[in-house]
Amino acid sequence: MISQRKDDHVRLAVEHQRQHSGHNQFDEVSFVHHALAGIDRPDVSLATTFAGISWPVPLYINAMTGGSVSTGIINRDLAIAARETGVAVASGSMSAYFKDPSCADTFSVLRKENPDGFVLANVNATASVDKVQRAIDLVRADALQIHINTAQETPMPEGDRSFASWVPQIEKIASAVEVPVIVKEVGNGLSRETVLLIESLGVQVADLGGRGGTDFARIENGRRELGEYAFMHGWGQSTAACLLDNQDVGIPVLASGGVRNALDVARALALGASGVGASGGFLRTLKDEGVSALIAQISTWLDQLAALQTMLGARTPAELTRCDLLIHGELRSFCADRGID
Ligand code: FNR
Repeated sequence: MISQRKDDHVRLAVEHQRQHSGHNQFDEVSFVHHALAGIDRPDVSLATTFAGISWPVPLYINAMTGGSVSTGIINRDLAIAARETGVAVASGSMSAYFKDPSCADTFSVLRKENPDGFVLANVNATASVDKVQRAIDLVRADALQIHINTAQETPMPEGDRSFASWVPQIEKIASAVEVPVIVKEVGNGLSRETVLLIESLGVQVADLGGRGGTDFARIENGRRELGEYAFMHGWGQSTAACLLDNQDVGIPVLASGGVRNALDVARALALGASGVGASGGFLRTLKDEGVSALIAQISTWLDQLAALQTMLGARTPAELTRCDLLIHGELRSFCADRGID
């Protein structure tokens, strides 16, 4: 049952990427062009440091899968792509492993193929501390992601209907584990109020996981016979809106959700992200064109990001926050409505 759901998610997410990879709210963010801002390419570094974590590049393959034979093969290929490009890679939710330990290999392959890379374990907000520790141990995780996904569970036919325990359980997990803890949304976004709450629970990093790419409300509604939750398609705030909403919160933020290319990566970094993740787009490349194409795509993005930093005068990803940005359209109205300068 759970492994069938994992296979459904992959199939529906890839179909969604093939059909909906057009406009999103990152298009409402542009850099002011300063024609003499440029620096020399050898002076540009892509390294990023946040919450005691150091990555050579500010990009990561965000949580997707594991738990079935075919998703184990996907994790193997994601791990190979991460190893060849230096990006961090996250496992998908490891609940399948807690229910059926015989699928352990479909997750541990992330470490096996990528022994020296940065690997994140992924659990839900109801996992016991004991299970979380097993997840971390299985992939020898360098950090832990706890996903929060009420707008996915709600239209999911077999989804959770009880959410009240999540806050105290996140606090319990955060105080018990030794690796940095990241709480992440799955494509509906984290508001400023939510990030402040997450911070108060002792969590080190928030992954804003906003709207604009993979849409789990749509995916779960697509798994219902009658599709009666269509009103939830596109639920939540875009990743660009979340970044604006979360300026100067106390903990570092990561940006994911609807990141389509190197320009979106640069935009997210300029809006304050310490790192930028992508899932659905990378999965589509992997499924349609194979692991070499995914390696080429990630390498191209990193090369283009360095080129953009060179033109924009940003020696590091963090220096992109000094760039002048223009905010247009609905994103501008969002800022006005939320009282963001
Ligand atoms: C996901 N995502 C996800 N997130 C998570 O925390 N645990 C999980 O198990 C999964 N599973 C999953 C499966 C598939 C097939 C996809 C495409 C995605 C969500 C993912 O990490 C990310 O937050 C969203 O997909 C938004 O990013 P993109 O896809 O718009 O780049």
